[in-house]
Amino acid sequence: MPETLEPEIVEIVEIVDPAFRADVLNGLAEPIPAISARWLYDRRGSELFDAITRLPSYYPTRTETALLKRVLPEIAALVPAGGAVVEFGAGSQTKTPLLLRAIHPKAYVPIDISGDYLEESAAEVDADHERVEVHPVVADFTAEMVLPDAVAHLPKLGFFPGSTIGNFVPQSATDLLRHFRTTLGTGAKLLIGMDRIKPAGRLIAAYDDPEGVTAEFNLNLLHRINRELSGTIPVDGFAHDARWNDALSRIEMHLVATRNVEFTVDGYHFAFAKGSSIHTENSHKYGPRGSWLLLLAGGWTPLAEWRAPDDDFVLILAEAQPRRFAP
Ligand code: AVI
Repeated sequence: MPETLEPEIVEIVEIVDPAFRADVLNGLAEPIPAISARWLYDRRGSELFDAITRLPSYYPTRTETALLKRVLPEIAALVPAGGAVVEFGAGSQTKTPLLLRAIHPKAYVPIDISGDYLEESAAEVDADHERVEVHPVVADFTAEMVLPDAVAHLPKLGFFPGSTIGNFVPQSATDLLRHFRTTLGTGAKLLIGMDRIKPAGRLIAAYDDPEGVTAEFNLNLLHRINRELSGTIPVDGFAHDARWNDALSRIEMHLVATRNVEFTVDGYHFAFAKGSSIHTENSHKYGPRGSWLLLLAGGWTPLAEWRAPDDDFVLILAEAQPRRFAP
């Protein structure tokens, strides 16, 4: 008689990320409730962000890609071939291959906290560019790090596209740029994308699209809290809001309570009055002087910049020059 096999019962338990739990519980208890934008990017959030980048009203991705295509020969002339491209983030499927094809580096080092995304993007680059060595690093790119030995002696080009720098408040953006400098070393170059200040109407349309994808992206954070932190947040009691904060030059995303709501997260009780909000993201926009000043404060001297039509977006190539103290 064949042995009958008992069906195995597999329970899928999501492991609570203690940093997520701490950020949410502390953030909701703040006088101005806020949760770090990094938590918007679970699997669903990343899919939704991907969809955002293809929306007609979300101009940054399209504009930066077109600009990069146009100016790559000029960038290539300023960057030595045979070096290492170090990308802070998992890598974009379109922008990264364009850059690698244009500058012919010896090595490519994508750095990302999510091993899954890193493997996917590293595999794609591997398949596409057989002559480029790929050395993925699973790490939080906001901290300083030691790069793989294989690239230690190569000239380095940091790559930070997407205007992701805009998601950091100026103090953190400066810290981040200084960390990039320490990681890459004196003499390294950095190619960075920044979004420009423009009329509030266009900015708000980009962050509050008529299709409702950005709203879903923002509200997904509440679903994530409910799922991963045993939350009871009534998601239908909140609405997405994108605001232009002119004094701080940034778009802010908020989740605004549309009625008085009460809920618990991991057993802790919270109450939000109608109209009060949870601040979930900043996206800073920079004018010409602001972008240069930010780079200089972070230890990077701008060498060249390329502007998209109507100055909608800018790519800046900067260098980590030896430090000069006075005057
Ligand atoms: C990832 N980052 C540059 C996007 C931005 O434009 O600030 C995130 C985003 N949030 C809403 N739409 C896009």
